[in-house]
Amino acid sequence: MVGAAHFSGGQWWRRNAVGISLFLLYFCGGLISLSCAGRPPAASRQELQVHKHLKRLNKAPVKSIQSPDGDIIDCVHISKQPAFDHPFLKDHKIQMRPNYHPEGLFDVEKESVGTKERTNPINQLWHMNGKCPEDTIPVRRTKREDVLRASSVKKYGKKKHRSIAKPRGTDPDLVNESGHQHAIAYVEGERYYGAKATINVWEPKIQRTNEFSLSQIWILGGSFGQDLNSIEAGWQVSPDLYGDNNTRLFTYWTSDAYQATGCYNLLCSGFIQVNSEIAMGASISPVSAYRNSQYDISILIWKDPKEGNWWMQFGNDYVLGYWPSFLFSYLGDSASMIEWGGEVVNSQPDGRHTNTQMGSGHFPEEGFGKAGYFRNIQVVDSSNNLKSPKGLGTFTEESNCYDVQTGSNGDWGHYFYFGGPGRNSNCP
Ligand SMILES: *[C@@H]1O[C@H](CO)[C@@H](O)[C@H](O)[C@H]1NC(C)=O
Ligand SMILES: *[C@@H]1O[C@H](CO)[C@@H](O)[C@H](O)[C@H]1NC(C)=O
Repeated sequence: MVGAAHFSGGQWWRRNAVGISLFLLYFCGGLISLSCAGRPPAASRQELQVHKHLKRLNKAPVKSIQSPDGDIIDCVHISKQPAFDHPFLKDHKIQMRPNYHPEGLFDVEKESVGTKERTNPINQLWHMNGKCPEDTIPVRRTKREDVLRASSVKKYGKKKHRSIAKPRGTDPDLVNESGHQHAIAYVEGERYYGAKATINVWEPKIQRTNEFSLSQIWILGGSFGQDLNSIEAGWQVSPDLYGDNNTRLFTYWTSDAYQATGCYNLLCSGFIQVNSEIAMGASISPVSAYRNSQYDISILIWKDPKEGNWWMQFGNDYVLGYWPSFLFSYLGDSASMIEWGGEVVNSQPDGRHTNTQMGSGHFPEEGFGKAGYFRNIQVVDSSNNLKSPKGLGTFTEESNCYDVQTGSNGDWGHYFYFGGPGRNSNCP
């Protein structure tokens, strides 16, 4: 526990107070016939569950970094990361780099200095206060409060509902399920081996803490049944998950339509991280401002043709890691659909449409500097080449609340503007 040296006394005490009270609880349990008769109160049982869960998630760090946003980033030895709790990964040999990297049109971002559509690079906030050593990966420490905000310990880090847009859906329950709303572009009908996009980053306002707003890529396998496979990555604002309104880099995966498998970030065993510089779930900064500087992130997800693992890259420089192929059924082979775009939860607060914003909170008509965008959207084909998407469709449940508009040009390839304010006079 080298990392303990980095904590102030107060934090040390708070962390250990839980341990000490749990020790007393165990002790009490042992003496149950003497003085502590009766079953432990529900509150203590929950405390015990939370403690066990935190112990599972938060591996002993080599070093810890306090981020200005209140996060603690633990630098965990690469071989001690949560993925290796998975029974199938016990003897896994980590791949430190992919065998192949897809190539294509927008492989290296063009400098667009001098044009009006100028964009800027972006970073993670915790970098201000330090770096993780080689052979470690940065992990956002899960706090007690994080777990307590979830409806149950088991549900922490998982999506509550199926969280997917089904264009031209025949099942209305799925389309409108629990108020999730989307404004997306998509392709289907071929075999896809990855996708890429550059997404501008905003900090949309969230009306209720149980809502969220995100902008992401979905890599989908299978039909929209109980065994849907999905790999997702992008940015999100999710007060319930993170305890604040910051914009964060995130990933998600599931192999059974958001039921038993999968989670956000590294909150379960699955994703194997190899990168020591980028932390899943950590804040990204700065964000774009209306009629002002635009900041964007690039995300590339692709299937390594040799090993079959799904790799993720952030920006041009950071290969973050991979989802082993065995986690999935359909995606073990290829993806059948790719979606890019925004999603919010409309919990219908006060019986009306939520004010929660998607993208910048402005409609696509407003264009550059004002609306959210995905540019240079591409798919990876069976020869591991990045290509423009063919037959790009769009979908939104209620275009008066959140909308999407596609286009293409030389600089941006295929792109779209998307988003909206939620409640307004046309979306009551
Ligand atoms: C989704 O629900 C809204 C009202 O909540 C309705 O106006 C809309 O038509 C529904 N969309 C679909 C595709 O069923
Ligand atoms: C998040 O934003 C909402 C309003 O959009 C605000 O009421 C709330 O206090 C903010 N939460 C934090 C932790 O800043």
